[in-house]
Amino acid sequence: MSERQLIYAANWKMNLGPSDARRYSERFLALTSPIPGRSLWFFPPAVSLSAVSECMQSRADIRVGVQNVHWEAKGAFTGEVSIPMALEAGARAVLAGHSERRQLFGETDEYVARKAKAALNLGVTPVVCVGETLAERDGGRTEAVIVRQLAPVLEALEPPEWNRVVLAYEPVWAIGTGKNATPDDAAQIHELIRLELSHHGVSSRVPILYGGSVNSGNVLSLLARPQLDGVLVGGASLDPEGWAELVGLS
Ligand code: 13P
Repeated sequence: MSERQLIYAANWKMNLGPSDARRYSERFLALTSPIPGRSLWFFPPAVSLSAVSECMQSRADIRVGVQNVHWEAKGAFTGEVSIPMALEAGARAVLAGHSERRQLFGETDEYVARKAKAALNLGVTPVVCVGETLAERDGGRTEAVIVRQLAPVLEALEPPEWNRVVLAYEPVWAIGTGKNATPDDAAQIHELIRLELSHHGVSSRVPILYGGSVNSGNVLSLLARPQLDGVLVGGASLDPEGWAELVGLS
């Protein structure tokens, strides 16, 4: 049997500008060495991409990604970053549809699909995020919300393209709240996502990460579930010592 491949993804959100990001990267590299079967992904703010990718380029187990992009390559889109620009700055992955983008910046399911498609067209891995709010969960609508969020992406991508996609299940109520989904809950939703993919002829090998208040105290119980292929972490990834400890736990 082939070794389980896990992705540990750090989403720094709007933290760590270029000089802090460089200091973080140097410290993190000094604290860690590659672990077979684990890849470490970093999503710094766009202005810190070059600093992180330059520092981390010696490590084949590390990949740098951008938190958000526009789907057009260039043009009159004030404040946006395009995929070719992010690529030039070292990004090889892009988060698409993080709940903060959806909730605070009006990103629709269709935008998410366009970003994922544009990323794939340029050889960049989209990490498509889905997840329900507390009200949706309490209203018994989790499954319907996730199916709705996935629908335009399933429509936009051909089944073989999914070999280059990563999904992240991030329940909104668990993000930054200290209240993570239980391993059972996360595993159940990951199964639901996989079932939805299979209904559209998509390979069962698409990695699905869990995100939402993951820390060094709960990561092992979450990853003990085979339905989880890794984690997407905000707060607990912001200091190099803590993140180095978390990614090294076994
Ligand atoms: P926290 O780990 O801070 O809950 O954030 C999760 C997240 O949104 C990662 O994308």
